Amino acid sequence: MLERLVFGKVPRKHHIQLRDEQGTLRYEECLTREGFEGPYTIAYHLRPPHAQRLAKVEHGWELPASLPERPLAKRHYRTAEAKRKGGPAVDARVPLLFNADLTASVLFPGEPDPVYFSNGDADELFYVFQGGGTLRTPLGDLRFEQDDYVHVPRGMLHRFIPGAGPQHWLSLELLGGMHLPRQWRNETGQLRMDAPYCHRDFRHVEFRGPQDEGIRRLLVKKNGAFHGFAYDDSPLDLVGWDGTVYPFAFPILNFQPRAGLVHLPPTWHGTFGARGALICSFVPRVVDFHPEAIPCPYPHSSVDCDEILFYSRGNFTSRKGVGPGSVSHHPAGVGHGPHPGTYEASIGTKETSELAVMVDTLLPLQATAAAAAIEDPGYQDSFLPG
Ligand SMILES: [Fe+2]
Repeated sequence: MLERLVFGKVPRKHHIQLRDEQGTLRYEECLTREGFEGPYTIAYHLRPPHAQRLAKVEHGWELPASLPERPLAKRHYRTAEAKRKGGPAVDARVPLLFNADLTASVLFPGEPDPVYFSNGDADELFYVFQGGGTLRTPLGDLRFEQDDYVHVPRGMLHRFIPGAGPQHWLSLELLGGMHLPRQWRNETGQLRMDAPYCHRDFRHVEFRGPQDEGIRRLLVKKNGAFHGFAYDDSPLDLVGWDGTVYPFAFPILNFQPRAGLVHLPPTWHGTFGARGALICSFVPRVVDFHPEAIPCPYPHSSVDCDEILFYSRGNFTSRKGVGPGSVSHHPAGVGHGPHPGTYEASIGTKETSELAVMVDTLLPLQATAAAAAIEDPGYQDSFLPG
């Protein structure tokens, strides 16, 4: 997925002995994807990493559940009004929209995770609308802040330590994995020079070596169920690692937007790919420069895609009535487009200050009761003229 990183001590070849100065053997752990054919990371532990006991681990994870059949309609959810569960991030997610490929949730974590968590079902992508903190993993600590995407690979043991102040994150649980779009990579996997970001735009972990926080419990999510384990010693016992599977942060403002002679479709804003989904970043930029250009997005019927937009800040050229923290959901099957007046008003504009995350999904999204509780009931009719 990304370039190979190396931290701490690793032997000169994989699957050979690594010993400390006293001759003590270290234990290799290979974190592989797609069986043994995909990207991988090899870590070196003080102790066998697979020695866990079954244990009961309490948690407050909320799995998404759909509402009874609802009319096909454009929807608007105000996440700033969502139920603030608070507590640790592992318990804090409030699912809003979901399908077989992803679950979109919001969370307002207020405490550090008291246990380690590993999502065996999904790669995770967070967008930090407000707040920041530290993601702690055996590979190292990852610092993140407002306007960052934070990626946690499937199967990566971790805990979140939110910083001071309010936290408001969007969570995308990507059940078929996440990757950097193929069109931005060359044949070696390196980001192309004409990609909208480069390897230097990503923030990596700071490796800390073995440490003991006193935490021994691990919660694992697998097959939509939760499983508890306990370690006798700290699982944060790495002396070194190398590979291409690791968490990272990507500041959304590092995405280099493009403008065209006329309006470019969302694929140009594609930032992360996933099974059945494309995650796009809309960042402040100059707009289309044909003398007769209409910079506002054209009305469209993307017959294969549901579209959700998380509005972060700025002035949205095509929308009225949405604000920071809003989520719009425009389902496939019925066309969507700009709000009345915005199409015409965009003519002659030179730039947009909008900051938003868009997700196009191939499968229809279902809403949860938590989403319905923060729904703007007038949104569907807000597209009628007058
Ligand atoms: Fe759209």
